[in-house]
Amino acid sequence: MSDATDAQLAAQYEAYPYPRRDPRDEAKRLIVGSPGYLYEIDYWIFGASRSASRPLHALFAGGGTGDGTIMLAQQMARENRPGSVTWLDRSTASLRIAQARAEVRKLTNIVWEQRSLLDLPGSGLGPFDYIDCCGVLHHLPDPAEGLRALTSVLAPGGGIGLMVYAPHGRTGVYMVQDALRLLAPPGEPPTERLDTAKRVMRHLPQTNWLRHNRFFDDHINGGDAGLYDILLNPRDRAYTVREFAALLADAGLSVTCWVEPIRYDPVPLLPDPRLRARIDLLSPLQKAELAEALAGNMSVHIVYCTRQEDVPVLADPERDEAVPVVRDATGETLARSINPDGTIIVNLEGLRIPVALPPQAAAILSQVNGQRSVGEIAAILAARGIKEDAFRRAWLATFRGLQRVNRLLLAAPRSA
Ligand SMILES: C[S@@+](CC[C@H](N)C(=O)[O-])C[C@H]1O[C@@H](n2cnc3c(N)ncnc32)[C@H](O)[C@@H]1O
Repeated sequence: MSDATDAQLAAQYEAYPYPRRDPRDEAKRLIVGSPGYLYEIDYWIFGASRSASRPLHALFAGGGTGDGTIMLAQQMARENRPGSVTWLDRSTASLRIAQARAEVRKLTNIVWEQRSLLDLPGSGLGPFDYIDCCGVLHHLPDPAEGLRALTSVLAPGGGIGLMVYAPHGRTGVYMVQDALRLLAPPGEPPTERLDTAKRVMRHLPQTNWLRHNRFFDDHINGGDAGLYDILLNPRDRAYTVREFAALLADAGLSVTCWVEPIRYDPVPLLPDPRLRARIDLLSPLQKAELAEALAGNMSVHIVYCTRQEDVPVLADPERDEAVPVVRDATGETLARSINPDGTIIVNLEGLRIPVALPPQAAAILSQVNGQRSVGEIAAILAARGIKEDAFRRAWLATFRGLQRVNRLLLAAPRSA
């Protein structure tokens, strides 16, 4: 059900379409991220078992100025993947920007739907194999209703990628929002509210928590749209791991991946054997809760999920036919980022976690190009004197280590 706050939200995204984007920048770079990345969908939703030749129909609900839509449409176009990407949002201003971005890229696989995602049930749209809803549910009058609307158009066996806000990494946001509700009430014109917010930000006391929060910077570097979205948003709420998991379970959904998995693992945060023994007694959800509470830096939660009856069995990385693929880099660049001590450092908003890889990891990763299969890589390395057994052990350790940071995944099979 829409309400007066929702009308203010709609007005916000007309005045300040989010995120701020200049379509001309499409000639220079592709913005990528999670959720909605093609390789992640292939792996975390379909377990790398759905053929790349099967048409993929995706929906970006609350697509905004088009980041996710453009990313996936471009990735599908580049890889000649059949299907379509439907952008759906209420905002006319966002539609114009997203369409202009698609035009610069000459993308022809996007369908445009200007409407509310709450109207999806009975709309005749879909069904969709993948539904993306990034940074939207937490603005809705009833997020559970939003999720129901999305699942109503989800194809059997399909999956959903979501991002919602998380509380700890947003420390300070809600205090400033409280202050601004007093000085710049939601009923005032957006331009006036923005002006007030900028003035407040210039004088934010040194003790204010937002000044100390370095886990996101959209209110500083995201232009007027970023500042408005974070500090003047008429409605947003943040979910702890537990709350988000409950929202998903109530909708009949199971999480297939918390992105990145390593963030939700408390073990690297507490390298102490006694604590490890205690951690081992916790359920997976409790471990994730512990990691969230300890790290304190999570400002969002990103998940891939499917209906509880559709949870994929992830393809076996040990099969010769499995094709590893590096997300957002080449195998060679990943190999080069291995430190002399055999670790790769992942930086999670200031939290630096070393991921230990076996000595052969660099040689293996250098052969990963998204085309070669595990069997072919094994053969190349065998010719260089790496025995089959040693390869298998090293490959598995490399894959497991880098899968946990969402960097190394398995590709969708090419054949039907
Ligand atoms: C914070 S923006 C996120 C944009 C985009 N998903 C991204 O992550 O870049 C929220 C978007 O949700 C849209 N939105 C909010 N309520 C909606 C609704 N009921 N139906 C469709 N879109 C909605 C807004 O218009 C806005 O574009």
